[in-house]
Amino acid sequence: MKVAEIFETMEYGPAPEAAGPALAWLDRHDRTLGHFIGGAFVPGSGHFESINPATGKTLARIAQATPAEIDAAVAAARQALPAWSALPGHERARFLYALARQVQKHSRLLAVLETLDNGKPIRETRDIDVPLVARHFYHHAGWAQLKEREFPGHGPVGVVGQIIPWNFPLLMLSWKVAPALAAGNTVVLKPAEFTSVTALAFAELCQSVGLPPGVVNIVTGDGRAGAHLVEHPGVDKIAFTGSTEVGRLIRRKTAGTGKRLSLELGGKSPFLVFDDADVDSVIEGAVDAIWFNQGQVCCAGSRLLVQESVAEPVLAKLRARMERLRVGDPLDKAVDIGAIVAPVQLARIERLVKQGVAEGATLWQPSWACPKEGFFFPPTLFTNVAPSATIAQEEVFGPVLVSMTFRTPAEAVALANNTRYGLAASVWTENVSLALDVARKVKAGTVWINATNLFDAASGFGGYRESGFGREGGREGMHEYLRPIERPREASAAAPLAAPAAPRPPVPSPIDRTPKLFIGGKQARPDGGASHRVLGPTDETIGEVSEGNRKDVRNAVEAARAAEPGWSHATAHLRAQILFYMAENLSSRADEFAQRIARQTGHDGTAEVEATVSRLFSYAAWADKYDGAVHGVPLRGLTLALVEPIGVMGLVCPDAAPLLGLVSLVAPAIAMGNTVVAVPSERHPLSATDFYQVLETSDVPGGVVNIVTGSRKVLAPVLAGHDDVDALWYFGPAASAREVEELSAGNMKRIWTGDELRDWLSPHASEGPEFLRESTQVKNVWTPSGD
Ligand code: NAI
Repeated sequence: MKVAEIFETMEYGPAPEAAGPALAWLDRHDRTLGHFIGGAFVPGSGHFESINPATGKTLARIAQATPAEIDAAVAAARQALPAWSALPGHERARFLYALARQVQKHSRLLAVLETLDNGKPIRETRDIDVPLVARHFYHHAGWAQLKEREFPGHGPVGVVGQIIPWNFPLLMLSWKVAPALAAGNTVVLKPAEFTSVTALAFAELCQSVGLPPGVVNIVTGDGRAGAHLVEHPGVDKIAFTGSTEVGRLIRRKTAGTGKRLSLELGGKSPFLVFDDADVDSVIEGAVDAIWFNQGQVCCAGSRLLVQESVAEPVLAKLRARMERLRVGDPLDKAVDIGAIVAPVQLARIERLVKQGVAEGATLWQPSWACPKEGFFFPPTLFTNVAPSATIAQEEVFGPVLVSMTFRTPAEAVALANNTRYGLAASVWTENVSLALDVARKVKAGTVWINATNLFDAASGFGGYRESGFGREGGREGMHEYLRPIERPREASAAAPLAAPAAPRPPVPSPIDRTPKLFIGGKQARPDGGASHRVLGPTDETIGEVSEGNRKDVRNAVEAARAAEPGWSHATAHLRAQILFYMAENLSSRADEFAQRIARQTGHDGTAEVEATVSRLFSYAAWADKYDGAVHGVPLRGLTLALVEPIGVMGLVCPDAAPLLGLVSLVAPAIAMGNTVVAVPSERHPLSATDFYQVLETSDVPGGVVNIVTGSRKVLAPVLAGHDDVDALWYFGPAASAREVEELSAGNMKRIWTGDELRDWLSPHASEGPEFLRESTQVKNVWTPSGD
């Protein structure tokens, strides 16, 4: 075919993702997967076949757990519980961080395995499922780190049985496992029988990071295995996602047993379109709402409710868009809709669609046909649907959209709430007041405005009514896995980041090296061409350091300002990842940093380096958790308190704690999206100059952290008087604080002067909300809504 002809037809060519590595992974396991119990793979005693729904062919043989195998998994989880729950949060955070990194490192394998096993398009597994899995582990590494501070007096629930569905196999695993582990629980997870493969690939990742045996156990099998887990007396909590029918069964089974329970069940979520909505956005939104994952989504926008005046044009455009959707091989990167998970699910969809027609609704499907091989169903639209019709009330869990019309906002809300479910809703209008008013009136756990199917680990997800109870994600999700009891601490086990080695006696550095300044991501020669000697504990010379001047500060501020728009708009998740990475790189050189501290101060530096790694973890944790609120002002509407960075910050660091003093100031400031110019300890600057290499190897964008060594007396006033510095922290002698405060009056920058002798090693004294508050400013957005 000629290029001109291709342009004529705009035909898609095939763009298949290679399945080779994923199939090789399955072959390595002889296409037969057992359970993962007590840190080891255990062959199952009986098996069933897991089918690739795009071909109908067997992908692997999966073990059907016997009661004895489930008992063994619960026993392993029970045995692992005391040591795991007694680990300090920081240690658990290291494991969760290591899991997040492993998921990222093996993302392609996981995405392809998921597509082969579930039938969902590779575009979704690659760009949505797997990145969100990593995100969940990162976010909950943060909660593990902050557990003691943020949930004082709370301990884990214990051994948790987790039962998940087949629609987002690995993502649902992460939603369950990450918070449970962060809070100190151990788990026995049962994936859905159609989609167990990626859970076992995840088990391998648990092994590879050295997760203590028994902390995560995975048993496979169908509902019988699930039922046994639910009824097991050794399980303290059940977390279930799946059908409302099974959820109800589990509620009855656990009643009176003292077991904690969270249920994330079905939905029949409304997708409300008002007459002033942007129609093109609405159409793309509808595609995402009901044809994402073949409509097998608990919060799918399966009820299209359109204002009558715009119903015809909206439906016409929607049909045109449906005609262009591509159904086919899920491994093809240009396919929109993949295969339905299993014949039984396909049969359920077909039955409900038939019933829809029989009850009088009008069916519309595109003119093209679905592939013959595998289990496919075309995108389907029903109009003329009565609100009480089966297809308007029952969860189809397939690519089937029913549409109804309304005349007024009140009618829209009434229709939206005409369901036994309450999982999610999307509201489409350009009128912010109407959008917020409807959002408040719809009974659903999540409401998206001019958007749909948005998920994040920082935002709790869960239902109202028969959609279940309990939340997954965010602070509220952590509460599901905690109870108000603090257990006594026990000895900690080894964590995956390099453990600090015993400090060696200081040795003189054989190479003469005078570190430069660090400006705009590069080491820069000082403008004045001067350096001064650095003295050790007995005033012997241990090195030299560059002497920064006024011009150097100006260059550093310029670099910080240039980096500020990009950094402040970077997602909190990205900032968190970079802070974790800094901790990782520092940890791998802990020994060297500890020695440097000892050479400067005469004190063993091991504890300071360990505390610095932990501090970086804490601010990585806070990056996406120090967020705003909705204020209870006497107004109908929402008053949103948004937390924003201040801008470019000058940080004058304390002399005590050469490394920790620097990081205690830099980390909260950059975690919140500021860029900084730091003046490190004047007396002990060499830890800061060593830290350049950590910054350079940790993907910190150039200009986010700038370090100017030299005389505090010279540099602090320059920062204080600089009009392009928005805030200044000064942890120096009290006598100079006054000068700094006076000089700051020029641009009225925010000043925080603190005691340089505070206990920097103590997280209570030197970490957390005080530092975060001083790194941020609050913007209140008033949005009155409704009548
Ligand atoms: P299901 O609720 O039967 O399966 C979900 C999980 O529960 C699976 O791991 C299954 O093995 C397990 N399970 C089944 N019976 C159990 C029992 N008695 N005790 C403990 N665990 C048990 O869902 P199924 O049959 O796969 O799908 C049926 C319908 O459920 C779908 O058509 C859809 O409408 C709805 N569904 C909703 C989901 C959601 O996320 N809200 C997810 C999956 C299905």
